[in-house]
Amino acid sequence: TWTPANIVDEQVALIREQVGDAQVLCALSGGVDSAVAAALVHKAVGDQLTCAFVDHGLLRKGEREQVREDFVRITGINLVVAEAEEQFLSALAGVSEPETKRKIIGREFIRVFEHTVRQIDAATDIKFLVQGTLYPDVVESGGGEGAANIKSHHNVGGLPDDLQFTLIEPLRTLFKDEVRAVGAELGLPDEMVWRQPFPGPGLGIRIIGEVTRERLDILREADAIAREELTRAGLDREVWQFPVVLLADVRSVGVQGDGRTYGHPVVLRPVTSEDAMTADWARLPYELMEKISTRITNEVREINRVVVDVTSKPPGTIEWE
Ligand code: XMP
Repeated sequence: TWTPANIVDEQVALIREQVGDAQVLCALSGGVDSAVAAALVHKAVGDQLTCAFVDHGLLRKGEREQVREDFVRITGINLVVAEAEEQFLSALAGVSEPETKRKIIGREFIRVFEHTVRQIDAATDIKFLVQGTLYPDVVESGGGEGAANIKSHHNVGGLPDDLQFTLIEPLRTLFKDEVRAVGAELGLPDEMVWRQPFPGPGLGIRIIGEVTRERLDILREADAIAREELTRAGLDREVWQFPVVLLADVRSVGVQGDGRTYGHPVVLRPVTSEDAMTADWARLPYELMEKISTRITNEVREINRVVVDVTSKPPGTIEWE
């Protein structure tokens, strides 16, 4: 019978057999799939695994720490972090157009990742690359085995020819809920196992307008409040994704204390969905929306208005960019 413990045992045995005493690399994105795949491979081959994490500075509040500190402490994994926030922000300076942002983020990601892989490869001679491919991804791509490609996390292509590794895909027979169960079995914390899907370009496509560090910090605060209150209300698992979007180029007049304010709006975009192909706006309780609105406008100085997006997909998309 299928139990998370069985899956772990079976995969650990298979990975050990496949890897032998070779070196293995895994890229962490901050998401569930790569974290569970890495934890599984680590359980099988321990220090033969090295993980790489590109810190592009576009993650939500607390998420980089979750990867860089909590995950490492819990699993004992070797992690190499590429500090690239500066590089990504310089590359994004002056850019507002969504597809241009995506291209830039994808391009910088592959540059930084390649550089990091070369460094690790030079030190350890990597043979295998771990990918968090799930069963639905396998079906979608026709089930082909293909050469090592970095999954479309950033919608980018593969590694150059001299950096081709054999793939290890320990999750390729599993669905998302099974991956979560395996993650929990491996001792990963709920915040990691139950993390909502998050786009590769991160908060970069949740700031309407140019992406700057100051704007990212504003959005991170507002987004953290929305997530915290959703969790507190016990509704994490009812909501598929909950983007908070900063309308950075829009200002509106407000009043606070005895002063007039001229701040930015944020949009709450909670949605329900099965697979992100279609979505409906989530009917969050009024008390929850009130709490989020009050806290954001009280705690984030630059934001003086909170609005809710009540568009389904189609015709809207989940993200605003
Ligand atoms: P939309 O906004 O098209 O999003 O309804 C559908 C799903 O895809 C995610 N998304 C992305 N994921 N890179 C990604 O890895 C991207 O550029 C990207 N754009 C959107 C979105 O969060 C939702 O889950």
